[in-house]
Amino acid sequence: MSGAVSAPKKGLIITIDGPSGAGKSTLCRQLAARLGYVALDTGAMYRAVAVAAARRGLDGEDCAVLEKLCAAIRIDFRREADREQVLLDGEDVSAAIRTPEMSLLSSRVSRCSGVRRALVRRQQEIGAAGGVVLEGRDTGTVVFPRAEVKFFLDAGVVERGRRRYRELFAKGIEVDLQQTIAEMEARDRADQEREDSPLSAAADAVRIDSTALAVDEVLDRMLEIIRRHPGFTPAAAKSPGDT
Ligand code: DC
Repeated sequence: MSGAVSAPKKGLIITIDGPSGAGKSTLCRQLAARLGYVALDTGAMYRAVAVAAARRGLDGEDCAVLEKLCAAIRIDFRREADREQVLLDGEDVSAAIRTPEMSLLSSRVSRCSGVRRALVRRQQEIGAAGGVVLEGRDTGTVVFPRAEVKFFLDAGVVERGRRRYRELFAKGIEVDLQQTIAEMEARDRADQEREDSPLSAAADAVRIDSTALAVDEVLDRMLEIIRRHPGFTPAAAKSPGDT
């Protein structure tokens, strides 16, 4: 994958950070579609590392082993029939990365600095050319601290738990609502308290609480802020795999 660091930028770098279930993925995808930008779900990359580790029976706490794993695997994105796919060594793992088990394991592997370094480097390569919306926990603080527009999207934990429950239910994954909320709280705590790049809002991020807002309302607020940026230029819709 080429870095394209010195090429002229094709658009803004926009970041959306926040806890799970706040609506980051949906808004990242919709914003990118509206702007003709690339959407980059950075959490999907940590989830892909978790799937690779689980399949090899690796210890999710052994950072040296996980760092080696990151050097040995390849994570790509591909858009097919308007659906963004996550590929692990060429295999579509888009469904496998979304189970509750992989949610917990991805949070665990994301504590390892070696894993973070490898994935952040890759995210920077994909986004360097601009015209990109990234979402995750550290995209505005660590991956692109100089991103032109940064959002911090939050929502109450019960509402976030309900959203995640509905999402899993729609995919045929049966979970308990109270357990989903409890797991989400535990994962939030782990993501906020880890030493390397904990979840936090960048000082210059625009904070939006989506608890009582519909997706379209959040989208409109975000678009208004982005369009006001002096460097804003729309481009043609792309996939992270196109860079
Ligand atoms: O956004 P998500 O739920 O798919 O992310 C899964 C896990 O990956 C999350 O619990 C923490 C980790 N993550 C991270 O540490 N940094 C990111 N930029 C994105 C995700």
